[in-house]
Amino acid sequence: MCGIVGYIGSRNAARVIVDGLQKLEYRGYDSFGVATNNPRIEVFKRKGKISEMGSDAWSLHGTIGIGHTRWATHGEPSDRNAHPHLDCRGRIAVVHNGIIENYAALTRELRERGHEFRSETDTEVVAHLVEEFYDGSDLRTAVEKTVARLEGSFALLVTVEGLEEVIAVRDSSPLVLGIGDREVFAASDVTPLLGYTERVVYLEDGDLATLDREGWRVYSHGHPVRRRVEHVDWDVETVKKGGFPHFMLKEIYEEPRVFHDTLHGFAASSLPERYRHPPEITVVACGSSYHAGLVFKYLCESTCRIPVRAELGSEFKYFTPPLKGIVTVITQSGETADTLAALKKARAYNCPTLAITNVLGSTVTRIADHTLYMRAGPEISVAATKSFVAQLAVLMRLIDLMRGNDRLLTALEQANTVIGEVLLLDIDRAVEICRPAEHLFYVGRGLFYPIALEGALKMKEISYIHAEGYAAGELKHGPFALLSDQTPVVALCPPGDTYSIMLSNIKEMKARKAPIIGIGASGDRELTDIVDVFLPIPESPELVQLVATSVVLQQLAYRTAVALECDVDQPRNLAKSVTVE
Ligand code: F6R
Repeated sequence: MCGIVGYIGSRNAARVIVDGLQKLEYRGYDSFGVATNNPRIEVFKRKGKISEMGSDAWSLHGTIGIGHTRWATHGEPSDRNAHPHLDCRGRIAVVHNGIIENYAALTRELRERGHEFRSETDTEVVAHLVEEFYDGSDLRTAVEKTVARLEGSFALLVTVEGLEEVIAVRDSSPLVLGIGDREVFAASDVTPLLGYTERVVYLEDGDLATLDREGWRVYSHGHPVRRRVEHVDWDVETVKKGGFPHFMLKEIYEEPRVFHDTLHGFAASSLPERYRHPPEITVVACGSSYHAGLVFKYLCESTCRIPVRAELGSEFKYFTPPLKGIVTVITQSGETADTLAALKKARAYNCPTLAITNVLGSTVTRIADHTLYMRAGPEISVAATKSFVAQLAVLMRLIDLMRGNDRLLTALEQANTVIGEVLLLDIDRAVEICRPAEHLFYVGRGLFYPIALEGALKMKEISYIHAEGYAAGELKHGPFALLSDQTPVVALCPPGDTYSIMLSNIKEMKARKAPIIGIGASGDRELTDIVDVFLPIPESPELVQLVATSVVLQQLAYRTAVALECDVDQPRNLAKSVTVE
């Protein structure tokens, strides 16, 4: 969602900020803006793409500035609603991520006191509040008093004319500092910092940081506090396309390595004893991460015989399940608001909590009792790809760690080779079937049911084709009414327990004239003969087939979206990390 970058140093602030905002584009946005402090406040903000208009902001002067990418929540995407927002006299500039829940009441109050508002956003109220409290020299106190009036979640950067300072505040919305040589950065996540510094400080909720020519200081409740400088080893090349036309394709091609590295990233001691024999496990996650959680449920219940409940983060807070055992949250970004809310609820129930995430220092790692990291590196494309297979790797390995053996690790040994092989599959005919369709079904059974859900999600989010994932047996309970020669079905039919019944289901769908794209084991003549297009997965253990099938479905979505000329990396209306509930 929205992204923030701030800078104070000796470089041209606007260039650094535009460069940083570009690296945050992946979070999803509709407008962007920059304000520099030179010592007058200069502002450039526009609805539209940084790649098209970002360089126009370079003309702003100064070595201090703040910038923002906006994903509209309050007020339409427009130049006027883009951040930064200013106070009445244009001396105080503010950028904000999150939501100010009491903005309407505050706006009324400030209007009565004579403040003039120019936008429909919830953010502008912050600039006017700072204006109320600013005495001409002490910005920190003015921001502290402002924050005391705000309800909601926010990460803020504030700068004021005539003062060589940027104030950064974090409350339930992520914010990191980048520590350079006589320069300090602030950003929503570490990606804008890559290439400038590897030293970062993860601010905590309630922190206020001052960035000035002397360096940086952090305060909590008005008192100075120490925050550790940590080292980030992500490479700046990982946030570049490296010759690929889209980040999504690049990230799909990274999957053999990502799966292998993640799988081998855990020692037996990676899982503390208290997580090994829980009476029950509750997994909470959203979107693709939830689908990974469903795979875990199927796998863990059948191998460890431990009951596993998989819940959607967005629903978890609306009921009170009887929680016992451990609560595991899965989140690539570590910042998904619904997942974090669920995690806090689990803590309130005194359940041991385990987080699975890709992002070092993300909020989830600060709340959970213990964290297992995926080794996917930064994922820039909005659609989760390499992070999904990395989640599968962590979750499969988690089962080994719980059982105290390496059985799944051994079974998955050749997974990276098989993933590499399916990257080369010819899927042209499958793309030709999907491309003109208005509706698609994805069906699977058992472990492959969540993979069908994930395949459909991938297709709909980037190609805008309506795609439904179903447990294959459920089609007959309603959706069969929709089957025709206009509704292609992607059927996952691996060898194993579900094979024969899947084959029967496919024949039933065929009898309703639905074109079938079948995915199964290489050399499966029977399946090849009944489907319209057969996509073979090299012979391998079931879990390897599962991961490889996910990769084929990602490719199918990608290739179809490209054929339809969709904005693959930044699909309309979507954001990479959903930081509001
Ligand atoms: C789909 C996708 C989303 C995310 C979901 C959760 O491709 O990326 O469905 O999986 O928003 O995000 P995280 O894992 O960051 O909590």
